[in-house]
Amino acid sequence: MTPQTPRRILVTSALPYANGPLHLGHIIETIQTDIWVRAQKMFGCDCRYLCADDTHGTPIMLKAQQEGITPEELIARIGASHQADFADFMIGFDIFHSTHSEENRRMASEIFLKLDARGLISRKTIKQAYDPEKNMFLPDRFIKGECPKCGAADQYGDNCEKCGATYSPTELKNPRSVLSGATPVERDSEHYFFDLPQMESRLKQWLSEDRVQPAIRAKLQEWFDSGLQAWDISRDAPYFGFEIPGAPGKFFYVWLDAPIGYIGAFLKLAETTGLDFDTYWGEHATSELIHFIGKDIAYFHTLFWPAMLMGAGMRTPTAVYTHGFLTLNGEKMSKSRGTFIQARTYLDYLDPQSLRYYFAAKLSASIDDIDLSLDDFRQRVNSDLVGKVVNIASRCAGFIQKQFDNQLSPDLSDPSLNASLVAAAESIQNRYERRETGQAMREIMALADLVNQYIDEKKPWAMAKSPETLADVQGVCTDGLNAFRILMIYLTPVLPAMSAKAAQFLNLPAMRWEDIDHPLVAHTLNLFEPLMTRIEQSATDALLAATQREAQAMHQAQQPIPIEKTATATTTPPAGDIEPIAPEISIEQFAAVDLRIAKIVHAEHVEGAAKLLRLELDIGDDKPYQVFAGIKSAYAPERLIGRHTVMVANLKPRQMKFGLSEGMVLAAAGSDQGELFILSPDEGATAGMRVK
Ligand code: 2FM
Ligand code: ZN
Repeated sequence: MTPQTPRRILVTSALPYANGPLHLGHIIETIQTDIWVRAQKMFGCDCRYLCADDTHGTPIMLKAQQEGITPEELIARIGASHQADFADFMIGFDIFHSTHSEENRRMASEIFLKLDARGLISRKTIKQAYDPEKNMFLPDRFIKGECPKCGAADQYGDNCEKCGATYSPTELKNPRSVLSGATPVERDSEHYFFDLPQMESRLKQWLSEDRVQPAIRAKLQEWFDSGLQAWDISRDAPYFGFEIPGAPGKFFYVWLDAPIGYIGAFLKLAETTGLDFDTYWGEHATSELIHFIGKDIAYFHTLFWPAMLMGAGMRTPTAVYTHGFLTLNGEKMSKSRGTFIQARTYLDYLDPQSLRYYFAAKLSASIDDIDLSLDDFRQRVNSDLVGKVVNIASRCAGFIQKQFDNQLSPDLSDPSLNASLVAAAESIQNRYERRETGQAMREIMALADLVNQYIDEKKPWAMAKSPETLADVQGVCTDGLNAFRILMIYLTPVLPAMSAKAAQFLNLPAMRWEDIDHPLVAHTLNLFEPLMTRIEQSATDALLAATQREAQAMHQAQQPIPIEKTATATTTPPAGDIEPIAPEISIEQFAAVDLRIAKIVHAEHVEGAAKLLRLELDIGDDKPYQVFAGIKSAYAPERLIGRHTVMVANLKPRQMKFGLSEGMVLAAAGSDQGELFILSPDEGATAGMRVK
């Protein structure tokens, strides 16, 4: 008999943007994917997990500019941080590559040229907003103005956050570039379009083959009903990306080469493993291709991506599995409210496997949002992992160690307990396969309950006290430890490090699915070491506090509030992070800032300082306060003398190069250098009055 060829599967998670650190929203997706992949590997499949950083686009280009480094340097730094975070969350990629790679450049060009040769690429000149100061075309998110429908100020070029209207940036009233503040002008540019509508019937056929969850299919039906549009796949220089072959100054839009990055990563992996391209990517590929994604990018993965693959004569995805968004304590995670937990911050305070378990317990095949409730998280991990699973091992290990020289008995004393655990294997395997990990965890915990009940009933601690029953303790504990062994095999995809530690304790090379039905008897154990400890509330509190502090620090870095620095601040916040509201503070925190009306009694230039004025501020104390303020570009000193303004009076004095600065004056700052406006009270306010 020839051995059966195992299922060959390529699995991907969405490629994270290389413009910032990972947060728990990325982590839940990679944990879901990693659990699935580890389970498949345990079941004997030839499964490869591919990922990469998504490195192209305007925000990355601008962020690098803002930091004064090259985009390559930026993506290398962020790439390293992503890889370290993923490794610490035990995400077992077979390859983690980058979309800014030669493999990807080659694939993107090849696919584009094939699409073009097959008449699927058209060229059209379109009008686009252009920043005449920055000399670049502006993506919609880089234009702000008043909503054409409701008039709300400060709305992005694509939709209004107040009334929900969607529009094009040319409809905005009083538009301005968020990069320079200039009024955008319209300019013509030739763009390249992928003819998505030509692929409609093939896409419908592909979707009818059970590729996506029902909720996504319903969404797709809506998209079909509203009519598919040709997709603009090009962007003008300056752009960080791949130049389109034969089109100098035109670049592939980041979303064209991002999914092709899955193939780029495969090519890199194939270099060392010798995987055959056609088996995996040819039109008649015999392997499976499975993408895990979040619901915000379903459009790209279920329309553009399969259509591109079809157009290029390649295989299409076997399935696209979509998950919901992660919420924190029932609310959307928000940068401005300081509830966006970064992966690294979590790792600074808590154990990665606790989160892997919690997410596993909450994940399913549905696209519903998943809530990380920190109270529930603690309670669930403490009660299930520490209180149920680890407890079985710690209850039994001591007796085997102390009374029986680490020897398990030659037979199970109650084979029926073992049989109940073994019998669950198929069902648990099935639940992993169907991504019903929450159900799998509940089934495993129900088995753990059964084992704990068994130990409770047998009471080995009581048996150990009398010489007649002492011998039976070994059998009961052998049963308990065998049950623990099976539970740990079941949990291995979720808790890889704990599983490895359990294997070490049980003196086994690894926890393997095929060993479920091979009881461990007449076997010597190693010393038992604690496998997991309880999560204390202080740890989750510390995590939240650190997250709040980070948000605050980020906000301060982006908002040039310290007036000493304002004139030098030319920061352009990345798209999506523009002028966030600072994290919420309490009334007590606000009251801690002592704001006073100050009279500027003296103002002068500072020798050798390009941006500073030295101010003396009277707030009714016996002597004036000295403040160095970065407002020279906007005010001649003599204009200021005698004016009233608002000052932070209880700011810790700062030693600056030119002297001690004993406070700060408040000013409104625009995006332009020199666009500064000192705040003044209405007439009548006098020096020293408290501002509240
Ligand atoms: O939404 C995102 O974060 C994208 N960087 C995902 C890309 S997935 C794939 F297409 F590359
Ligand atoms: Zn509006």
